[in-house]
Amino acid sequence: MNIYVYENPILRKKSTEVDKIDDNLREILDEMVKTMKLANGIGLAANQVGIDKRFFVLGIENEVYKIINPEILEYGEEEVEFEEGCLSIPGIYRKVTRPKKIKVRYMDENENIIEKELDEILSRAFQHEYDHLDGVLFIDKISPLSRNLIRKKLEIMKKNSRTREF
Ligand code: CO
Repeated sequence: MNIYVYENPILRKKSTEVDKIDDNLREILDEMVKTMKLANGIGLAANQVGIDKRFFVLGIENEVYKIINPEILEYGEEEVEFEEGCLSIPGIYRKVTRPKKIKVRYMDENENIIEKELDEILSRAFQHEYDHLDGVLFIDKISPLSRNLIRKKLEIMKKNSRTREF
């Protein structure tokens, strides 16, 4: 699959709900897992591979998660800072502050509704990918000083607006 790089317009679009979970979607999810692993990522959202629908995959500690129509039901009060990167913004890593814990609901590829609390890296990755579905990137959430330091790199990336093939 091709991964779209900043600032392809699809990365800024709010994605729409999935209305049918079928073999076609399951195949796409499998392809996305492969692409994510080849790219050495821990998460990949549908719009990063050109599909403006609300689903993403996570691969954390040998566990794969296929997340469809996710909702974040609650955000914990405690916030933590952690360095993030993104397969659509290659070579840039910056600290982002986010709630430590969240409570989520989503559907898996077998139409099971799953509700659980997430913490640590899983919570972090879920929030990052969830933002993608709303057209939000982690660089939108870094400090102005931090953004200024990567301004040039982003401008060049934006001008090229290429895709990465995996
Ligand atoms: Co990302």
